[in-house]
Amino acid sequence: MYKYYPEDIIEEVRISNDIVDVVMEYVRLERKGKDYFGLCPFHKEKTPSFSVAPAKQIFYCFGCGKGGNVIQFIMEIENLSYIDAVKLLADRARIQLPDGDSPEEKEKALIKRRLIEINTEAARFFFSMLNSPKGEKARWYLKNRDIKESIIRKFGIGYSGDSWNELFIYLKKKGFEEEHILKSGLVLLNKAGTFYDRFRERIMFPIFDIRGNVIAFGGRVMDSSKPKYMNSPETVVYNKSKNLYALNFAKNSGEKRLIIVEGYMDVISLHQSGIINTVASLGTALTESQGRTLKKYAEEVIISFDADTAGQAATMRGLDLLSDIGCNVKVLKIPDGKDPDEFIRKNGVDAFKKLIDKSISLVEYKIEILKKNIDTDTVDGKIKFLNKTADILSKIDNSVEREMYVKKLAAQYRISEESIFSEVYKRINKTAGLKTPAINAASRKKISKGIQEDGIDARILHDERFLLALLCVDNSIYRTVKDKITPDIFSDSQNKEIARIILERIEDGRGIVPGELLGMLENDIADDFARLFNEECHCDDNKKAILGTIRNIEMNRLKKRQNEILDILKNREELTKGDVEKLEQELMSLIMRIKNYKNI
Ligand code: UTP
Ligand code: MN
Repeated sequence: MYKYYPEDIIEEVRISNDIVDVVMEYVRLERKGKDYFGLCPFHKEKTPSFSVAPAKQIFYCFGCGKGGNVIQFIMEIENLSYIDAVKLLADRARIQLPDGDSPEEKEKALIKRRLIEINTEAARFFFSMLNSPKGEKARWYLKNRDIKESIIRKFGIGYSGDSWNELFIYLKKKGFEEEHILKSGLVLLNKAGTFYDRFRERIMFPIFDIRGNVIAFGGRVMDSSKPKYMNSPETVVYNKSKNLYALNFAKNSGEKRLIIVEGYMDVISLHQSGIINTVASLGTALTESQGRTLKKYAEEVIISFDADTAGQAATMRGLDLLSDIGCNVKVLKIPDGKDPDEFIRKNGVDAFKKLIDKSISLVEYKIEILKKNIDTDTVDGKIKFLNKTADILSKIDNSVEREMYVKKLAAQYRISEESIFSEVYKRINKTAGLKTPAINAASRKKISKGIQEDGIDARILHDERFLLALLCVDNSIYRTVKDKITPDIFSDSQNKEIARIILERIEDGRGIVPGELLGMLENDIADDFARLFNEECHCDDNKKAILGTIRNIEMNRLKKRQNEILDILKNREELTKGDVEKLEQELMSLIMRIKNYKNI
């Protein structure tokens, strides 16, 4: 296992580099279903067997068996050490690593540090401005919007005055260099060579990174002039498509779900009402990088965007994006086209909590939108609705869930269950051939490094790894099997070690995802886990699968002991009578237990 940079920074680097984007810089990929395929860059081939799975953020080649996460991909393709691969990817995602060794790295780190200091000083400046006599109008504006003193302090809300260069002068006085002040984006340079402040006469919202550093600002006008908000440009410390506003607070909420809203004011209003598991995407369309961050911090994400048409489109995109990367998503609908802030101010927080409880799933939301747009009173409309609904339902992987929706829909829209089922199955059968490329038996055997050979040991090893892989894919099943799993039950020493990591991460609430685990493993074990993630972890029902696997492991272990005893008993003349009796007793009880297992 690699330990050099702190684990959480490596993880930040990993989730900030989408594996599909990175691989596409080297390999031509084509999308088939949820995954991407292309010619493997690591061995010669004519038909694509190299795959990239965005949901799990891993790559895997069915031909040569190489696999891993984005860091391992860069190691292989650029022939770099682990540390250098992390550096390359950190650079790509503009993440500050702890001080590097080379002069350039030191210089880069210094600039990032300065920009954070400048933003922090600016936040202090805006905050004191708000509380100075000049800030009276701004204070009145905030009061009018029911924003309390304590929340102003928590979010560091401030005010930028009407002067052209007050902030610039302040920052200069603090000793910052002009070059760094310019790089922060808070100050601009005009053609005549004079510096002037970007933000004037606005309510200022500092934007924090996940560690709580101020990295940028949004500024709102206090009247109806345009643009309503002005934001810091992207800098070496601020990456708009990565950041989620207020995640630094929301991540400590202790809640298993996060609510994502559109704007500063929605977040502030919800936090003020005690709903602190809320973050905002700040008006931009949700990105994959943001999606993966959400997934890391929450078991479930609730989208609560504005109900206008733009908001509806953003909701749909966000839903697809989040569910594609394997997030549990729901939609919170606010009546009367309001945004969360307006709704709470009008109806109170309890009414909003009720909306949270009533939030609906992706499938329900999509079907609801269909229903809204299709006139199901006509025969044509009914057929169209049925077809489109079947399209949606056929994409659900879990058959139990699918059946539940079919039943619900049949009742709700008065269509027979059979006709929905038959349309859904038509579609499932059509796409079934697409999912995984053909693998011949020979290459499969080569890939799995002997694990699929028939010995009991190999089967136990395989099942142990499959169990660990499944836990990684779906942390929530841990609850079901908690009493049955400890690192000690794993017979393979490496599996024991891996189990220790996974269980610890799940138990202390940090959780773990496939790409993250791969990053902690030596390359050949990572290959095997990548294969498991890719080929085997597609269970209809993860709980059932894990319980079945535990049972198989236990049964194979009993069988192994049975074989051992039978072996020993072959030479019974070398044993004492008492030993033989003991062994035979054990054998009987083993046989009984194995039989019992088979009957479950
Ligand atoms: P909204 O217009 O919904 O703003 O835009 P809001 O947060 O509800 O603010 P109030 O209630 O009108 O005061 C949502 C988000 O989109 C971004 C901002 O991040 C805003 O919070 N936005 C909006 C901009 O960046 N620029 C704009 O001109 C407008
Ligand atoms: Mn608003």
